[in-house]
Amino acid sequence: SKILYKEDVAVIRFSDQTSKVCVNKQSLQLHELADVLGDIWLYRSSKSVVLISGKPGCFLAGADSNMLQSCTTSEEVTSLCEEAQKLFRRIEQSRVPIVAAIHGSCLSRGLELATACHYRIATKSKETVLGTPEVMLGLLPGAGGTQRLPKMVGLLGAFDMLLSGKNITADEAKKMGLVDQLVDPLGPGLKSPEERTMEYLEEVAVGVANDLANKKIPLTREKKLWDAVMGLGPVRKMMYSTITKRVQKQTKNLYPAPFQIIECVKTGIEQGSDAGYLAEAQSFGKLVMTSESKALIGLHNGCLLCKKNRFGPPEKEVKKLAILGAGLMGAGIAQVSVDKGFTTILKDTTEDAISKGYEKVYKSFDTKVKKKAMISFERDAIMSNLSIQTDYSGFESADMVIEAVFEDLNVKHKVLKEVEAVTPPHCIFATNTSALPIRDIAAASKRPEKVIGIHYFSPVDKMQLVEIITTDKTSKDTLAAAVSVALKQGKIVVTDGPGFYTMRCMGSLFMESLRLLQEGVTATKSDFLATSFGFNVGPFAVTDEVGVDIGLHISEMLCKAFGSRYEGGSLEIVKTMVEKGLKGCKSGKGFFLYGKTKSVNPEVEEILKNHQVTAPSAISSEYDMQYRLLSRCINESLMCLQEGIIASPLEGDIGAVFGYGFPPMHGGPFRFVDTFGADRLVSLMKRFEDVYGNQFTPCQLLLDHAKDPSKKFYESSPSLLQY
Ligand SMILES: *[C@@H]1O[C@H](CO)[C@@H](O)[C@H](O)[C@H]1NC(C)=O
Ligand SMILES: *[C@@H]1O[C@H](CO)[C@@H](O)[C@H](O)[C@H]1NC(C)=O
Ligand SMILES: *[C@@H]1O[C@H](CO)[C@@H](O)[C@H](O)[C@H]1NC(C)=O
Ligand SMILES: *[C@@H]1O[C@H](CO)[C@@H](O)[C@H](O)[C@H]1NC(C)=O
Repeated sequence: SKILYKEDVAVIRFSDQTSKVCVNKQSLQLHELADVLGDIWLYRSSKSVVLISGKPGCFLAGADSNMLQSCTTSEEVTSLCEEAQKLFRRIEQSRVPIVAAIHGSCLSRGLELATACHYRIATKSKETVLGTPEVMLGLLPGAGGTQRLPKMVGLLGAFDMLLSGKNITADEAKKMGLVDQLVDPLGPGLKSPEERTMEYLEEVAVGVANDLANKKIPLTREKKLWDAVMGLGPVRKMMYSTITKRVQKQTKNLYPAPFQIIECVKTGIEQGSDAGYLAEAQSFGKLVMTSESKALIGLHNGCLLCKKNRFGPPEKEVKKLAILGAGLMGAGIAQVSVDKGFTTILKDTTEDAISKGYEKVYKSFDTKVKKKAMISFERDAIMSNLSIQTDYSGFESADMVIEAVFEDLNVKHKVLKEVEAVTPPHCIFATNTSALPIRDIAAASKRPEKVIGIHYFSPVDKMQLVEIITTDKTSKDTLAAAVSVALKQGKIVVTDGPGFYTMRCMGSLFMESLRLLQEGVTATKSDFLATSFGFNVGPFAVTDEVGVDIGLHISEMLCKAFGSRYEGGSLEIVKTMVEKGLKGCKSGKGFFLYGKTKSVNPEVEEILKNHQVTAPSAISSEYDMQYRLLSRCINESLMCLQEGIIASPLEGDIGAVFGYGFPPMHGGPFRFVDTFGADRLVSLMKRFEDVYGNQFTPCQLLLDHAKDPSKKFYESSPSLLQY
């Protein structure tokens, strides 16, 4: 960090030479800050201080999660926290007023530092966000965040921030009392807008620092309504219990961090600061060591890796996309494409279909305008890059065509041939099929090296994952181009070999759930077995959402491809359901009825009467049933790695969590095996195998790991693994 005196004000700049985004080399930077401030306090060399980042874009980044992971005991982590807490408390108690000047992200430790200061000024830039995202990594703010926030923004405001981890804009922060003053960002001049904004911010902050020192601005915060409310013991008590109940419901008691956050806040308020800080440092130490936090941090790091193009830039950058099929999927893909600056054609066969597609895309941006997240000029500029049409004009300059047409091989072949006839030789043909092997689609191609699968998940704008599927003919350059497109669309990308990773895992979960139904377990109970493990929705609710007919189609394909291994429940049940029009949410009923409340569909119960099987008494506990579901889907994941369908455990975990909702606190099937123990899982599966047969035979990879407990999918440090 650099220090600069502007008359009576010391301007301290954080800077970090080593990285473009400011990564906090924690102890080093904080020590430096401690030294600099120590001198100021000792020699009274200035009357006030401004803290500002030397790099625009980020005030001060949070603690480095890899560094935390390198600590081996919670005591070690606790003492790191205490060090930071001590410094921040000294800042808070400084007689020399300290102003935080914020431009860019001010998250985690950055926010904790800012809140320890006496006054906060933030730019109104879009990049300026404040927040405490630690909870999303299974942690809590460990440098006083749980202690200061309630005093600044009230109990409810603080719980909202701490428990959601959401980003808060500068405007919101001002309203909440999290920042004291806003400044407008500047446009370009002789220097870049960023530089000009930083300079202006610094100038304003220096002025405020002077005013604070000269008592022109009072140091005490004005009393807010919640100060009075917080003063009432019974009201606080009620708040703690309401919040705790809400968190129990939301987390199903599966995540420890939110409860620790509530405890720390409560301890600080009810027992005083010293007790609060101690609780915070100790809780942080404990949380860092939990499997939940390790899993969430692993996923976080994994996502960062999957947001990089590990295949290098393609020979020719993809600029122009054409999308075939303007249905929900096609329109969704068009939306994320124009949004990120691709020139995009949306084609379907009828005027009606394309205008509906256009409407959908337009509406998505218009909603942003209404929410003031975008101005109407931006909306119109983006929409001007989207053309809708029923013919192939313009395809002669397309770099990539993504088809999302009806799932029928003949239709796909017809479309592929038409497209190849009108597109240039370098144009890539990407198919969003979920049920047909890409290889079979590519069989009709003149340029099979240009054919690839890009598997979007519905709804495209919300689901972060994209699976990219290659065949043995797909060229490396085609892969690199497809990955670059998906990344530019803002997606997390995992690459698969031929096959359908997420589909296979989800399918096996579904087949075993069907079997449970036949054994007399209700659909509600069956879904509960999955949700109580941490899935957001159970397999039957998912199938109703996706469509029972589509579920049937996929299951049939899987059974055809994998034979008896895929069996379990009887697909006849699902066939009869489709025949009777029970197609899930879209037809109003499926496994469940969707009236005012969701309930089991009696028609399905009726169908089940013809498919009952007796449950073997050896395997009937809730635990057993739960692990029947899980072990099948986990075994399937491992098999995909064994078969080379997925490239690494990390991609398998990311695909599972973001593709079919594998519970994040378990980190994905591979990390789960590491944590739970392969040997434990194998012995469970062997018991199931004795009763049910080869659907429960553990795969070789799982057996290998069970035999040798030192074999893990993840080494101690989760980042960069296997790459
Ligand atoms: C919050 O903002 C940061 C920095 O801009 C960003 O990396 C992060 O993804 C955002 N988080 C959420 C939940 O939007
Ligand atoms: C429209 O497309 C062009 C060419 O791909 C791109 O340069 C431009 O940024 C896009 N416009 C918007 C508003 O995204
Ligand atoms: C595209 O892929 C999604 C995700 O599997 C699938 O739900 C959808 O049916 C596919 N759509 C088309 C038209 O290929
Ligand atoms: C696990 O994999 C093996 C193949 O190695 C297979 O035979 C078995 O059926 C699979 N089990 C489950 C539960 O999917």
